[in-house]
Amino acid sequence: MSLDETATKPHDRLAAHLSADMQAVNALIRDRMASEHAPRIPEVTAHLVEAGGKRLRPMLTLAAARLCGYPGPYHVHLAATVEFIHTATLLHDDVVDESRQRRGRPTANLLWDNKSSVLVGDYLFARSFQLMTEAGNMRVLSILSNASAVIAEGEVLQLTAAQDLRTDEAVYLQVIRGKTAALFAAATEVGGVLAGAPEDQVQALHDYGDALGIAFQMVDDLLDYGGVAETIGKNTGDDFRERKLTLPVIQAVAQADAEEHVFWTRVIEKGDQREGDLDHALMLMRRHGTLQATRDAALDWAGRARDALGALPAGELRDMLADLADYVVARVA
Ligand code: IPE
Ligand code: IPE
Ligand code: MG
Ligand code: MG
Repeated sequence: MSLDETATKPHDRLAAHLSADMQAVNALIRDRMASEHAPRIPEVTAHLVEAGGKRLRPMLTLAAARLCGYPGPYHVHLAATVEFIHTATLLHDDVVDESRQRRGRPTANLLWDNKSSVLVGDYLFARSFQLMTEAGNMRVLSILSNASAVIAEGEVLQLTAAQDLRTDEAVYLQVIRGKTAALFAAATEVGGVLAGAPEDQVQALHDYGDALGIAFQMVDDLLDYGGVAETIGKNTGDDFRERKLTLPVIQAVAQADAEEHVFWTRVIEKGDQREGDLDHALMLMRRHGTLQATRDAALDWAGRARDALGALPAGELRDMLADLADYVVARVA
C-alpha cells in the first residue's frame, strides 16, 4: 500500500476514484433541486445541499454500478435520486426530532420553519421519483419506491418505540434497518440491477448495503452521546432529549439495578429531565460498557458487510467498499 493510500480515508479514496461521476451527480442535483415557481424551494435546498454532507449513498450507487461493469449514463441519475431521497428524509427528520443543527448549519426548520421543511422535503421526494423514472428500468423503480416506504415505516416505528422502556434490541434493529439501512441497501442494489449483474451479485450488493447501513446507524447513535458537535455538524444529546431507545440505552436499561431503573423511568418514560441527567446517563452507559458494546455490534455488522462482498468481482473498487465498512465504524463525523 502506498503512503498516499494509507494517508487518506476509504471514504476519500472512493470519492477520488469516482470523482468524474460524482461531479456529474452534483451537477444533476444542483439542476434538479431548483424550482422556477416557488423561491422558497431553492433557498432551502441550496442551504442543505451546499453544506455538503458526506455523499455516501450516491457514491455507493456509482461504485456498485461501476463494480458490475456498467458504462453509464443512468447510474448518475440513480445516485442523484438516492441523495434526494436522503435529503428529503433529513428535512423531515429534523422537524420530527426538533433538531437545530445539520451539516454544521442551523436546520431548515430553525432558519425557516417546520412547514417549509415538510413541504420542501415533499418536493425533493417527488423530484427523486422523476429522476428515477429516467433510468427506464421497472425493477429499479420497484426497489427505490419500496425503500422509500420502508424508510417512512422505520421513522414511524421509532416514534412509537421512543419513550417506551420495553423497546428491545429486536425493535431497535427493525427501526434502524428501516430508517437507514433500507436506503443504503437500495443504493447499492440498484447499481447492480442497472448494470444487469447476475442475481447473486445483486443479492450481495443488497446484503452489503443493509449491513453497512446498520453499522452506520449504530455509530450515528454512539456519536449522539460521545461525538463532538463541531465535527459531526449536529448537536449531541438530541436522542436523549427526544427520549429515544437507541442501543446504548437499551442495553443500559437491560442491566439496570432498581435505582438505575428509577432514573431511566424518570428521564425516558416520564420525560422529566434535569440538569446533569445526560451526564448521569453517560456514566451508567460507561458503568455497563454499553457504548463499547454498541461499537462492537457495529463492528460485527461491518464484518457482515465485508463478507457479503465475496460474491462480487475482485479489484480496486471492491477493496474500497470493504475498507468503507471499517470507516463507518471508525468515523468521528
Ligand atoms: C444522516 O446521514 C442520517 C442518518 C442515517 C444517520 P449522513 O451522516 O450520511 O448525513 P450527511 O448526508 O453526511 O449529512
Ligand atoms: C436518521 O435518523 C434517519 C433518517 C433521516 C431517515 P436520525 O434522527 O438518527 O439521524 P440524525 O442523527 O438526525 O442525522
Ligand atoms: Mg434526527
Ligand atoms: Mg430521527
